[in-house]
Amino acid sequence: MKIFLDTASLKEIREAAKLGVVDGITTNPSLLAKETGDPEQILVEICNTIDGPISGEVVATDAEGMVREGRHLASLHKNIVVKVPCIPEGLKATKVLTGEGKRVNMTLIFSPTQALLAAKAGARYVSPFVGRLDDVATPGMELVADIIEIFDHYDYDCEVLAASLRHPMHVVEAALAGADIATMPYAVFKQLVRHPLTDIGLEKFLQDWGALQKELKEGA
Ligand code: E4P
Repeated sequence: MKIFLDTASLKEIREAAKLGVVDGITTNPSLLAKETGDPEQILVEICNTIDGPISGEVVATDAEGMVREGRHLASLHKNIVVKVPCIPEGLKATKVLTGEGKRVNMTLIFSPTQALLAAKAGARYVSPFVGRLDDVATPGMELVADIIEIFDHYDYDCEVLAASLRHPMHVVEAALAGADIATMPYAVFKQLVRHPLTDIGLEKFLQDWGALQKELKEGA
């Protein structure tokens, strides 16, 4: 499963990139609004930091405007994937953009039918929003599993990108379901590697090694 970070923070992205396991980035207008600086420059800088798919979202709500913005976003850097909301105008725009060879990440997916239509329109990625469904007492991960099952029957060139993940268990469940990608906040990403037993185990190994070195020195 590919690991994406769901952030527009260059500080977080640079820190995470050092671990060598981040495959891409998803941004959205809300995430970019939290940062200071020109959003387009931030996107380009993200592309220069992570050599993978970097989603930048259109904000127009009509197909023509989405296509215009999508073309512009895609022209900023080869890594940019145009993120388009799953509404009727978004489907129209996706068909046009993907026909031109641009990669589209269809976002705000809350049903299997939306994912199916997104794949038919040529989207390269579909982003089911797990946490936001959980928030309204609907099991978000079931949507991910349903989309994977549906896509398994056909031959769409479309990856399932589990989004709106809120904690490490979501990441585990996305992997168990067979999601192609999981995108998560930096805070969640940092939790993935931590385990108190690893820290305790390492401390003990180092203590024992230190004691052995002391013994060897004293015996010499
Ligand atoms: C995905 O691409 C979205 O940016 C994101 O996962 C939304 O997450 P949220 O529901 O935590 O805002």
